[in-house]
Amino acid sequence: MDRALAKVELHCHFKGTVTPDLLKRLAHRNGLQIPANLIDTKGGYQWENFLEFLNAYDATSSVVKTQLDYRDVAYEYLISAAAEGAIYVELFTSPGHAAAVGLSYRDSLDGIAQGIDDAERETGIMGRMIPTCVRHLGPIHALDVATTVVNDPHPYVVGFGMGGDEAQYSPADFKPAFDLVDAAGLACTCHAGEVLGADSVADTLDVLPVTRIGHGVRAIESAELIERIVDSAITLEVCPGSNLALGLYPDPDAHPLNALRDAGCKITLGSDDPPFFRTSIGHEYSRAKSDFGWTDEDLLQITRTAIDAAFVDEEAKNKLRARL
Ligand code: ADE
Ligand code: ZN
Repeated sequence: MDRALAKVELHCHFKGTVTPDLLKRLAHRNGLQIPANLIDTKGGYQWENFLEFLNAYDATSSVVKTQLDYRDVAYEYLISAAAEGAIYVELFTSPGHAAAVGLSYRDSLDGIAQGIDDAERETGIMGRMIPTCVRHLGPIHALDVATTVVNDPHPYVVGFGMGGDEAQYSPADFKPAFDLVDAAGLACTCHAGEVLGADSVADTLDVLPVTRIGHGVRAIESAELIERIVDSAITLEVCPGSNLALGLYPDPDAHPLNALRDAGCKITLGSDDPPFFRTSIGHEYSRAKSDFGWTDEDLLQITRTAIDAAFVDEEAKNKLRARL
């Protein structure tokens, strides 16, 4: 892995960064059991398909409970990403998961912000947060998260997003939530075109005020949609390792990374939920070279695209550009 090549990651779930090792340490500290069947006999996360993965991801939340836990998760992830050459990471946080274990939104933010500050002081990496709602928890939950985010702004909260089971509900159901954060000046992204096809991306672009799409890889199934994505300068947060691990595509040859790029789409690379998919931001950059034939210059261009599409302000972007 080329650690000297500057990397920027725009698609990474805070809870999805918790390694089994850290989960064990947090469970021990909190006097809790790790949920049954979450970790296999070899020490990795155990799941068989997309819905089982989402359940496993949700299950880790019961162990990550305190403000200090939140600080440690952010800190350990950012330190590991910085060691691979990452200079900026946007973390998808999940206020609903914090609330479910009795941690207030403010306390979860303060914990993560402390981890971000500690990691930046040690390595120079910059971290920011994108609170997300969980699609399968429905529109009322989404509006609740959006309201919380708008009512309690934080300098490190730079956007709003949605993950979860793409097959549940339709984008229009979440319009009130997205419109609320949009009106408050936060940029938006939404998972689409991951487990569902091109229509899911088109429907999202029709009704939600997004400038980025999480994954979006299945947009490649519609030439008309690709033209729309290119014309409207939408950035796709592509996570090839996640897509391969979840079985969306059987092998890199079948993955549309190069087809999307060749069609002129703005794309970035992300690790999504690194220990769940046995990947990392460094591996995603390396894989683009080894499996997709990219050059160092291509990778640097991805980093530039990611800085342009980041939700942080222009002053911070210029600092990042100066590091390339
Ligand atoms: N939450 C965490 N990872 C996700 C993914 N890959 N798709 C949808 N929701 C998620
Ligand atoms: Zn994701």
